[in-house]
Amino acid sequence: MDRSLIEIDMQVKQWFKEIIPFIQQSLSTKLTIETKSSRRDLVSNIDKEVEARIRAKIMEHYPSHEIIGEETDQPVQTRSPDHVWIIDPIDGTTNFLKQMDHFCVLIAYYENNVGKLGYIYDVMNDDLYHAIESKGAFLNGEKIEAPSPISLADGLVSCDIRRWHSKTTFTELVNQCFDIRYMGCGGIDSIHVFHGKFAAFVNSDSGPWDLAAQVIFAKELGLKMSKFDGSPVDYLVGGDYILANPGCYDDIASIMKSYES
Ligand code: IPD
Ligand code: CA
Ligand code: CA
Ligand code: CA
Repeated sequence: MDRSLIEIDMQVKQWFKEIIPFIQQSLSTKLTIETKSSRRDLVSNIDKEVEARIRAKIMEHYPSHEIIGEETDQPVQTRSPDHVWIIDPIDGTTNFLKQMDHFCVLIAYYENNVGKLGYIYDVMNDDLYHAIESKGAFLNGEKIEAPSPISLADGLVSCDIRRWHSKTTFTELVNQCFDIRYMGCGGIDSIHVFHGKFAAFVNSDSGPWDLAAQVIFAKELGLKMSKFDGSPVDYLVGGDYILANPGCYDDIASIMKSYES
């Protein structure tokens, strides 16, 4: 493997050793909570502080790299950055605030538009998932095997019912899958697809930080990932996406083509 990639991977794992205890300890402190676009779109001082800490680490070690993060207002600078980091400091903020569980930290690192390193840290289970381009996906350092094929008729499909405008499409998905689930944290929902516990995660609204790491995991685990219309996801833009087991991707994609946003 590229020597610089090994070094970056070692750095990121060090950063997590500081950041994860900070998040865990924050749960016993008084949090400051604000709303963003709606009463259900929350952000806490911890989301902001975690993003600031990760940004500071990247800027200290890789000052020329670009950074895109959910909690810092900034336009995406360029369409083809040489080195870009994409951060979701707390994915599943609602779960973080209301359950103190089922949330994670998402970090992705891309070079010349190629996903190189992806991280999903399930904070309350202390589980670090990481994926390295062409090397595989790992849980706490142990390689994760690609899940066996799951048909749609047999599979649990995770999707966010609240955001469904297209009722006919959704009804078709419910009818054809075994049953519906939703963890409320895209990173944790995705982990369930990695392990074959969910056949798919279908997300109608995401930022770049909600899918950039998953793109790298999907490639390493032989999972399928696309927009609802079947076109490739754009890791700098986000939008709707399907992350699916290869045994059911075609059936889900053919249902989702009729989705009207
Ligand atoms: C959200 C969660 C949610 C998903 C949304 C995301 P946030 O992220 O991952 O499960 O359905 O698309 O925006 O705002 O909690 O980081
Ligand atoms: Ca958010
Ligand atoms: Ca998120
Ligand atoms: Ca977030």
